[in-house]
Amino acid sequence: MNIGVLVSGNGTNLQAIIDAINNGTIKNGHIVTVVSDNKDAYALERAKQNNIPGTVINKNDYIDQKQFNIALLSHMKDYEVDLIVMAGFLSIVGSNLINEYQNKIINIHPSLIPSFCGKGYYGLRVHEAVLKRGVKITGATVHFVNEIPDGGPIILQKAVPVLDNDTKEILQQRVMREAEWIILPEAISLYCNNRLTIKNNKVLIKK
Ligand code: GRF
Repeated sequence: MNIGVLVSGNGTNLQAIIDAINNGTIKNGHIVTVVSDNKDAYALERAKQNNIPGTVINKNDYIDQKQFNIALLSHMKDYEVDLIVMAGFLSIVGSNLINEYQNKIINIHPSLIPSFCGKGYYGLRVHEAVLKRGVKITGATVHFVNEIPDGGPIILQKAVPVLDNDTKEILQQRVMREAEWIILPEAISLYCNNRLTIKNNKVLIKK
């Protein structure tokens, strides 16, 4: 399977995917392109260090969201991408991309959906809201992408504890290290081995 990864920032989730491919956790997939909406994303440096083609497609270079998404779509088609992975990608993907890649786009979100997700919940803001609410458990979710932000069928989730002295930064690191970097490669491996099916908008994992 050809994997296309969408990034915006540091790329630690991209790194987790690269490491999983290198150590055999992900067997039937390889990254053919990394696309960033931010030219300064360190994720592009990670791609370069691993000989993966990196491309910047910045929404500010397009007249509107639709044209930006058309550019993303044609790029993925050019690279014959089978699975699109949003790994810390902050731009909104639109209906033309979602329709063309129906149930072939997955996203990692740093909370246990349906908590702390949807419009405005991204990056540190998620963990800030978790600490403000005082929940004792949080975590990460990998889900298929549909038209509803963070609303697609859930593939995997993993919980981590919220500790008394957590800051939003400490909590983000724990969620990434103990949840995101584990379930994202696992979900990609399941997908590449054709072990995911969707029934009544729920994901079933075939043995
Ligand atoms: C982090 O907040 C992570 O929780 C979320 O996207 C942000 C950046 O991730 N998934 P990355 O280091 O760029 O993969």
